[in-house]
Amino acid sequence: MWVFMERSLATVWAFLLGAGLTLAFSVATTKNVPQSLQLLGCVFIPRSNVTCHWTPGDNQATYYTLKAEKMLRSKNLTFSCTTTGLSCTAGINGSGLRFTFCISVISHSISGNVSSKIRCQSARIEGKLAPVSLNSVRQVDGSPHCLSVSWTSNVTHFPLAPFEIERGELNSQIKFTAEGEVNAQVRNVSVTGYTFQVCLFKPYTSYTLEIRNRYLGEASPWSEWSNPFQGRTAEAAPSAAPALWREVGPIGRNGRRLISLLWKPLPRFMANGRVTFYNVTCRAENGLTLSDYGSCGKLQPETTSCSLPLPAGRCSCSLTASTSAGTSPKALVWISGSSEKEPPPPAELTATPLGDDSVKIRWRPPPDLSVSGFVVEWVAVREETSSVLHWEKLNSSSTKLIITEGVKTMERNAISVKALYGEQGAGGNITLHVYTQEGTPSAGPDVRVEHISETSVELSWSPVPVEQLHGFIRSYALVCTTRNQLARSVTVPGDLHRYTLENMSPGIYDIFIRASTVAGTGPAGNPANVHIGSEEISIVICIIVPLLLMSLVSILILLLAQMRV
Ligand SMILES: *[C@@H]1O[C@H](CO)[C@@H](O)[C@H](O)[C@H]1NC(C)=O
Ligand SMILES: *[C@@H]1O[C@H](CO)[C@@H](O)[C@H](O)[C@H]1NC(C)=O
Ligand SMILES: *[C@@H]1O[C@H](CO)[C@@H](O)[C@H](O)[C@H]1NC(C)=O
Ligand SMILES: *[C@@H]1O[C@H](CO)[C@@H](O)[C@H](O)[C@H]1NC(C)=O
Ligand SMILES: *[C@@H]1O[C@H](CO)[C@@H](O)[C@H](O)[C@H]1NC(C)=O
Ligand SMILES: *[C@@H]1O[C@H](CO)[C@@H](O)[C@H](O)[C@H]1NC(C)=O
Ligand SMILES: *[C@@H]1O[C@H](CO)[C@@H](O)[C@H](O)[C@H]1NC(C)=O
Ligand SMILES: *[C@@H]1O[C@H](CO)[C@@H](O)[C@H](O)[C@H]1NC(C)=O
Ligand SMILES: *[C@@H]1O[C@H](CO)[C@@H](O)[C@H](O)[C@H]1NC(C)=O
Repeated sequence: MWVFMERSLATVWAFLLGAGLTLAFSVATTKNVPQSLQLLGCVFIPRSNVTCHWTPGDNQATYYTLKAEKMLRSKNLTFSCTTTGLSCTAGINGSGLRFTFCISVISHSISGNVSSKIRCQSARIEGKLAPVSLNSVRQVDGSPHCLSVSWTSNVTHFPLAPFEIERGELNSQIKFTAEGEVNAQVRNVSVTGYTFQVCLFKPYTSYTLEIRNRYLGEASPWSEWSNPFQGRTAEAAPSAAPALWREVGPIGRNGRRLISLLWKPLPRFMANGRVTFYNVTCRAENGLTLSDYGSCGKLQPETTSCSLPLPAGRCSCSLTASTSAGTSPKALVWISGSSEKEPPPPAELTATPLGDDSVKIRWRPPPDLSVSGFVVEWVAVREETSSVLHWEKLNSSSTKLIITEGVKTMERNAISVKALYGEQGAGGNITLHVYTQEGTPSAGPDVRVEHISETSVELSWSPVPVEQLHGFIRSYALVCTTRNQLARSVTVPGDLHRYTLENMSPGIYDIFIRASTVAGTGPAGNPANVHIGSEEISIVICIIVPLLLMSLVSILILLLAQMRV
């Protein structure tokens, strides 16, 4: 028991002693390492002033004095300012920055004055240069990614001589915004003269530029940005070929078929300039030379299609676009021979309307692995006026497309997808009819009476023109009225165009038909007026017809008799 107490007491003492020592030591460290008054840095504004910052010293300073001494051979000029804070600005009496300035800070307190170390260096090192003026931004012929920039500076406010600039004593940055873009980019550039080239631009694009400078390194703050100046880079050859597609007409009597070639203007960022002409050339793969180029050949830049007669065998056509700086790569389209077996179409096609004027389609590639791409074609289905063919060419890994161009609500679209098989040309198509949104028909079918019997009437009707349907016909409603009373109403499936109304009681009927889509029922077309089992019909059939026949027979007999005579 005693032994234990003795031990624990010893531990307590040891602990107390340790704690005391640490305490004493930490007090000693704060006291023995005093914080010294230290100049952090200055900024010189040419011909104006100097502003310096410092850290406070230990003593309770009542105020500080900043001393900036300009070293001259004849005499030293001292500029100063005082503050209770940790920075102040002293005027430099219109001095330039190509001088050595010795800077020191003095802290004044009750216990005495303490000075920081004196630091002497050229004022340029911490000088903030005056902004320069851009006075031209020009394209560089043959270098469509470059611009040549010229600038000037105010000699009295810009403490660098041309030879110093040439030596690379200027650090510079450029800020640029391409036309149509909102965000500016900033890049480091090397400026070794009053005209310099920057090569980080896109061809044939207008840019707004600004530059700023500092002397040598980070000690010198950036100048303000220069005035903005605009310039356009030079044209380059188009970087891609336009998308090219074709429509194949039937074979004519001369054994040739009319081929229409279609292409899309290059987007700006690929055209790299103003397209000056297109060049369309075709060749027959069996070596037949083509003499008739139809409307193809060298074409104006506004053109996006041309057509020419081609032989029935396999052919290929190519298209290039040219700017003043060169010609694009070739776009190639293969046209399979008309007697060649058509490779398979994609396996499955589905369409999902995304809104009033867009449809998302998806397909599964055909099992054949040699597919080199896909083409989606779509048209508005119309009977009365022709409609524009829209198309989109996609690479072999594509399995979907969102169609927005040329689709309208309540208008039927035929969308088809074909796979491309390299030199074999395009395969067969898989086609869907699609509405982004169905509406009610705006017209009904006209009723035709095909046959009337004593108790029934057989009707037929032609489909309403697709432009007036606004949807897929679900059903037709056949409505019979007699003396403005509903006599009968029958709904028949939308794929029927003939129907017999049976067991009609005698009477005079008006019969009309309305078409319905999923969105609703449209108006009726022209009605038919039908007399069923009525006396008039009995009279026609039982009396007038035999009478007519009898008179015909008598006339014939008379005629024959006369010929004998
Ligand atoms: C220093 O000079 C610049 C330029 O003349 C002036 O804009 C700035 O206000 C001055 N700084 C102070 C603190 O007076
Ligand atoms: C200017 O100051 C420097 C450094 O303090 C000194 O060596 C020099 O003699 C002074 N020149 C004159 C003319 O006072
Ligand atoms: C300011 O500069 C003028 C001439 O440049 C000079 O005469 C004058 O002594 C300078 N003043 C001070 C306070 O240095
Ligand atoms: C401290 O500096 C002030 C202002 O320069 C001066 O008036 C004062 O005499 C100096 N005090 C000492 C102890 O040197
Ligand atoms: C330089 O700038 C100052 C102040 O901005 C101006 O007074 C002076 O006229 C300018 N000098 C030249 C050559 O542009
Ligand atoms: C510019 O260069 C400096 C070094 O000189 C570097 O720290 C900085 O990140 C560069 N800025 C840009 C925008 O490249
Ligand atoms: C059009 O292309 C063909 C074949 O590439 C070429 O021979 C012809 O010179 C081109 N024409 C023009 C005007 O560039
Ligand atoms: C195919 O086209 C799609 C969409 O344009 C693109 O994301 C993909 O990288 C292309 N694939 C290949 C193999 O070029
Ligand atoms: C799709 O194929 C059918 C049958 O081969 C053809 O009649 C139709 O014109 C083709 N449609 C398109 C858009 O090529």
